[in-house]
Amino acid sequence: MSAAVPGGGPAEEIALVGGLTHEGEGVVRGGKTVFVPGALPGERIRLRRIRRHRQHDDGALLELLTPSPQRVAPRCVHFGVCGGCVLQHLAPAAQLTAKEAELKATLERVARVTPRRWLEPLTGPVWAYRRRARLGAKFVHRKGRVVVGFRERAAPYVADLAGCEVLASPAGALIAPLAALLGRLAIREQVPQIEVAVADNATALVLRVLTEPPDADLALLGQFAHQYGVRLYLQPAGLDSVRALAEGRTEPLRYRLPAFGLELEFSPTDFIQVNGPVNEALVARAVGLLGLTPAARVLDLYCGLGNFTLALARSARSVVGVEGEAQLVERARGNAARNGVANAEFHQADLSAAPAAPAAWLRGEYSHVLLDPPRTGARAMLATVARLAPQRVLYISCHPGSLARDLMELVHEHGFALAAAGVVDMFAHTAHVESLALLERP
Ligand SMILES: C[S@@+](CC[C@H](N)C(=O)[O-])C[C@H]1O[C@@H](n2cnc3c(N)ncnc32)[C@H](O)[C@@H]1O
Repeated sequence: MSAAVPGGGPAEEIALVGGLTHEGEGVVRGGKTVFVPGALPGERIRLRRIRRHRQHDDGALLELLTPSPQRVAPRCVHFGVCGGCVLQHLAPAAQLTAKEAELKATLERVARVTPRRWLEPLTGPVWAYRRRARLGAKFVHRKGRVVVGFRERAAPYVADLAGCEVLASPAGALIAPLAALLGRLAIREQVPQIEVAVADNATALVLRVLTEPPDADLALLGQFAHQYGVRLYLQPAGLDSVRALAEGRTEPLRYRLPAFGLELEFSPTDFIQVNGPVNEALVARAVGLLGLTPAARVLDLYCGLGNFTLALARSARSVVGVEGEAQLVERARGNAARNGVANAEFHQADLSAAPAAPAAWLRGEYSHVLLDPPRTGARAMLATVARLAPQRVLYISCHPGSLARDLMELVHEHGFALAAAGVVDMFAHTAHVESLALLERP
């Protein structure tokens, strides 16, 4: 329930901003809490309450009286409207400090745990880093053209972007040409979405098409692909309908993990970690923290296309990867074979429910477990992991709330100790918090 504050409602207030919400808005406490987009911790501001909710109000930032020393000019002209980024006005190092503070507070409040050691934040490029994204596209009659972009921050519309500073090159510079291209198509009102995947060897754009494009459109798409050196794919229905525009065999998309001598293939709509350099550092840190010996037997849950699995296999006796999506399991097997990794095997299983006892991948013994679940966490797997009694468990998380909930169970019910935790700068300028937590058996 929410309600607009009526005209003549509460007057303007002067307030001190205490923290950030999960969406990157400033939080003002004292009395009823107010969330103020654009305000940063430590700033003195003038605000007006514009909307009431049960637990908090929304506020509008009227004036910055004392700006934060960490405030910077946003690089992107679309910042504030586009929902892709919410923290460009905060220096990147301070973004990480804020995310670390959020992780600490969530672990203490929800899980009642503090790690024995805080890890240095894992950093990487903060501009032109995003190699996977889903963009919206819309023919706007009022404007007489197609707009392409992320959703707006405050409304469910496609933001009208000229370019993007966080999308990996060359995708960030392709938004305006792409919008112009779509505007020339006969099916311009039938292309609602574009998936972007920037691989080490190619850039792929997957156009969701609600109608098959006529030949003239196919010719325009082909010219665009040639001119900008990108691969275009069409998706007329579900994910398995994706097909390359160009006939004949195309080289698969690939990314490398050079420290492990690995090259992984993927399809343009597959899950891959968003920030390539940060992923390289994260995989190396994961292998280091697990402290594998040549006798180690590792279980990698939510393994995707083998991103961690194959690197772990380089130092372990064996690794078993488990993943829900059949296509990713196939991709992981192919990646193992192409990289000459013979000590990794892969199984498909739905990990949102406790596994049936006879599952083949549960028959082995494991000395180490890696968990890299989606935002919802790994709740259904925790008792199973505990029964396996591994020496170490490394939990990689993209949501502090579900991480804290799961750590509470692993620590307080299953007797693991939280040896270390830290944040990972996978999603600079967004409010997403990627983190890792190392657990050990006492
Ligand atoms: C954060 S991704 C990690 C993938 C991989 N570890 C990587 O680094 O590329 C989470 C993975 O969990 C898988 N997943 C999501 N829900 C699942 C479920 N219920 N059962 C099994 N796997 C699931 C997704 O398909 C995805 O591959």
